[in-house]
Amino acid sequence: MQSIAKNLKREGKSLGLVPTMGFLHEGHISLVRGSKAANDVTIVSIFVNPAQFAPNEDFNRYPRDLERDKKILENENVDYIFAPEAADIYPPGFSTYITVEELSNVIEGEIRPIHFKGVTTIVNILFNATLADNAYFGQKDAQQATILAKMAADQCAPIKVHIEPIVRETDGLALSSRNIYLSSEERSEAVLISQSLKIAKEFIEIGKYDCAVIIKAMQKHLSGAKTGLPDYIKIVNAKTFHSIDKIEQGGEYFILVAFKFGKTRLIDNLYIDYREEIPVMQ
Ligand code: PAF
Repeated sequence: MQSIAKNLKREGKSLGLVPTMGFLHEGHISLVRGSKAANDVTIVSIFVNPAQFAPNEDFNRYPRDLERDKKILENENVDYIFAPEAADIYPPGFSTYITVEELSNVIEGEIRPIHFKGVTTIVNILFNATLADNAYFGQKDAQQATILAKMAADQCAPIKVHIEPIVRETDGLALSSRNIYLSSEERSEAVLISQSLKIAKEFIEIGKYDCAVIIKAMQKHLSGAKTGLPDYIKIVNAKTFHSIDKIEQGGEYFILVAFKFGKTRLIDNLYIDYREEIPVMQ
């Protein structure tokens, strides 16, 4: 991959990278389209990264279908698919890990202690293997995207990290490869997650900025689910991921929801940019 990338660079081509774990959906496709619009060459990596799953997590059952993914990417005219084997990425004796301190230990990092270390380690390898100029990640994994942007900045990596809006089903459910795990009853209740964020958005639009009040209304809505339970609802500073009490002008925030249907955990969020007079949300 790296020698192909070097040749492309010698020809003066700009390279865009879309890192994925495969089982592609419209969320990934929108990242691919973003990359294709801005780069001469688009590389999509497909690698279910063992280092970011704890032993009790879903590494073994994570959905995989390389042939299906290849067809989707061919239809999108993607230039290269980089789909290494775990043994190529982590040969015997592999011992260098990348960690973004602090940000990796809060919220999702508290629940999944090795997760972000695995993510930053693989993404750094992918950056080095592809020599990409631009990399594209989804806002759905807001903490991951923030950590990866921080890693690139702290390491002076010659790559720009782009964070693209969440792509949703028509009823509002954020697209995720894990949605496939949901039973039909869970799937119909999963819509409550994005609805709870919509309620939060409406509160903010009418000037209700107290986090306890917003969270209580979201909790009430989510308690309508019979097949699942919220893991957390948090309102955090978008740079530190520390919880806040009040949404105030001058800041950027995320409202984060993690919701559990049995062993399936779904996450979703609302980004609030309140640096100007009026909060802008997406
Ligand atoms: O978001 C994902 O699919 C993965 O965490 C990533 C960024 C491809 C790293 O394995």
